[in-house]
Amino acid sequence: MKDMKFEYLIEGGDFVRAGHASSEVKKVLNQLNLDPVIVRRIAVAMYEGEVNVVAHAYRGIIRVKINPERISITIQDEGPGIADIDKAMQEGYSTASDRVREMGFGAGMGLANMKKNSDQLLISSEINKGTVVEMTTYMKSKQ
Ligand SMILES: Nc1ncnc2c1ncn2[C@@H]1O[C@H](COP(=O)(O)OP(=O)(O)OP(=O)(O)O)[C@@H](O)[C@H]1O
Ligand SMILES: [Mg+2]
Repeated sequence: MKDMKFEYLIEGGDFVRAGHASSEVKKVLNQLNLDPVIVRRIAVAMYEGEVNVVAHAYRGIIRVKINPERISITIQDEGPGIADIDKAMQEGYSTASDRVREMGFGAGMGLANMKKNSDQLLISSEINKGTVVEMTTYMKSKQ
């Protein structure tokens, strides 16, 4: 099987569409006869990354690559960047604006959830340029 590849453009501030890309990927994964627990973990991790672009960045692109061994999700955004990644990873740490909090986000749990729900999480960031988040999860099919 060749790798399946998908790309999604994410617009900062667009809370109406937030979560669309991750639900599309979830649909694809649900058709591949994978362990539903793995599908759920991937969908949660991607959703949090997608919402972070909407909540904290100007725009971004999500690239998803699926093959029988693994799924890799790369989220690259243009935005303010993250000054202290270790601090940002801590549960409860958030710089979310009032607007973002009004939308129900800003608990400071997203990055911790991404870490919990993926097998590998790599983050690199440059202040005033943007952030790249790479998540990898290994597949194990049901039977
Ligand atoms: N793509 C990003 N660009 C810039 N800053 C980010 C990005 N993703 C996360 N951050 C920073 O890391 C902090 C923690 O992110 P995290 O996702 O854990 O929490 P949150 O988005 O603030 O709230 P929650 O995800 O619980 O709704 C954010 O408040 C923000 O300061
Ligand atoms: Mg978040």
